[in-house]
Amino acid sequence: MRILVTGGAGFIGSHLVRRLLTGGDNFVVNLDALRYSGNLENLTDVAGHSRYTFVLGDICDATTVEKVLKEHGVKVVINCAAETHVDRSILDPNSFARTDVVGTAVLLEEARKAGVARFLQVSTDEVYGSVETGWSKEGDPLAPRSPYSASKAGGDLLVRSYWTTYRFPVLITRGSNTYGPNQYPEKFIPLFATNAIDDQPLPLYGDGRHRRDWLSVFDHCRGIEHVLFHGEPGCVYNIGGGNERENIAVAELILKILGKPMNLIRLVQDRPGHDRRYALDCARLQALGWAPTVLFEDGLKETVEWYRTNQTWWRKITSGEFRTYYERLYRQRLQGAG
Ligand code: TYD
Repeated sequence: MRILVTGGAGFIGSHLVRRLLTGGDNFVVNLDALRYSGNLENLTDVAGHSRYTFVLGDICDATTVEKVLKEHGVKVVINCAAETHVDRSILDPNSFARTDVVGTAVLLEEARKAGVARFLQVSTDEVYGSVETGWSKEGDPLAPRSPYSASKAGGDLLVRSYWTTYRFPVLITRGSNTYGPNQYPEKFIPLFATNAIDDQPLPLYGDGRHRRDWLSVFDHCRGIEHVLFHGEPGCVYNIGGGNERENIAVAELILKILGKPMNLIRLVQDRPGHDRRYALDCARLQALGWAPTVLFEDGLKETVEWYRTNQTWWRKITSGEFRTYYERLYRQRLQGAG
């Protein structure tokens, strides 16, 4: 199959590109704008693969998208291109509306015009908003609360409208908090792992009792692939890891794995509008034959080990633009520390 993965140089995208190349006879085109978190070093092992092509470009650019779809005879589109970090969306909301809403709209329309056979939108559990009790089902109303989740929800609604309006065969996956190797160190687990390696404080927001469901990137990519091949057009599928943990418990585990002292944990001023909990009901995808396989404690240990042994990868990032971002964000939050 000829598959276009957008955002294939990012965290989830790069794992997906590798999986699609090595697990079958697919041809994979990776369209990525290589913004701050897109990194071709995530794909050095498959860069020379005979069924892989990289194209530098933006999903907001209709001309580029049209050309890629036509030139490569693309039959399937998987949209992993997105701005994904809540804290960044608080600092710079418009870039989220641009990529996650406008970019999705452009990609969808070009894919429809090109007669693509399947369009899979990679989304997030955050579109359901904060769920204090119970588990979000796919039919629940969307109640996003950050510029990031609101932008993703906008993208989801556009994708769904292409099914109801044009019967364009779309699918949506909503994954829970994903972790694993190659994740940009602004996210919770890689930030805490890299800070702990350097004996730096781990800035835990608020009371540290917010809850997330952790999903290994390997299970997440298996889930996306499963939905692509077995999902029903027009449907949404939740992908959760079944590993709900309080943030403080995850921070403690990271320190334990690295043999670092617990007093590195620093309670800091909370993120504005911080969602208390996300939790997914995954019965629909499980009925299709998918289930998570990675135990959180094993997956976390492997991930932290990856950051310990791949310091060249992340030090290039943390010594660059990231430093300015980090200081801007945490100067204020650390000052408000309790
Ligand atoms: P994050 O990785 O940003 O994912 P999301 O907010 O999209 O779920 O954060 C995961 C959790 O960790 C979330 O509750 C916020 C918290 N967190 C901190 O306590 N400190 C941090 O420095 C970061 C980045 C996140």
